[in-house]
Amino acid sequence: MRAIAAPTRPPQTLSVREAAHKLRKDIPDDIEEVLFTSSEVQARVRELARDICRDYAGKDLIVVGVLKGAFIFMSDLTRAIAEEGIPSVRIDFVKASSYGSSSVSAGSVAVDLCGSGPTRWSGRHVLLVEDIIDSGNTLRRLAADVAGCGAASVRVVALLDKKGRRQVDFEADYTGFAIDDRFIVGYGLDYAETYRCLPYVAVLRPEAYSH
Ligand code: IMP
Ligand code: MG
Repeated sequence: MRAIAAPTRPPQTLSVREAAHKLRKDIPDDIEEVLFTSSEVQARVRELARDICRDYAGKDLIVVGVLKGAFIFMSDLTRAIAEEGIPSVRIDFVKASSYGSSSVSAGSVAVDLCGSGPTRWSGRHVLLVEDIIDSGNTLRRLAADVAGCGAASVRVVALLDKKGRRQVDFEADYTGFAIDDRFIVGYGLDYAETYRCLPYVAVLRPEAYSH
């Protein structure tokens, strides 16, 4: 097999201004601001995993991701949980939709347990993983549904929380970051199915969804 030649150019050194410019160039025009960089998110995910491992030590834990928005957070969090002390952690997914393709919550929540339910969760400790809490409708409904399946306990971890937007009384047990009322994309969160795969948490420009 032919060896791959090492790059001949030394790593580039960028000035702060050049680095900022480069960063901005890599960011889509619809993005107003990067709220949390990839490394800030990773550091917080690691802290959440440590808290979760401390609280669930010796317990039979099933982590249930809420599709689609939680898929990236779920993937990083569960690997961190496995590394931080619960390698036997199990996973499931459920699907909840309330938004359609608009940026305004519709209020009613459609839940699909994706084949899981009492047989998977009865007598087990379930941790629901959500990308963001807004009105609180989705998680209140999901937590009630999982409890109705006979789970030994139901808790919630949310990466982001717009506390000021609640329509119903609901608090997560673990929260990554409390944020203001701005429309977020990236790290799993979308606007009309776009921008989920940005590695950071960002604010979408209002012009991008107000027309
Ligand atoms: P809730 O039922 O109003 O709490 O809404 C929760 C769901 O709305 C989340 O799982 C997201 O899918 C979606 N959502 C709420 N705020 C945002 C946002 O700023 N960006 C993208 N999705 C959001
Ligand atoms: Mg969601």
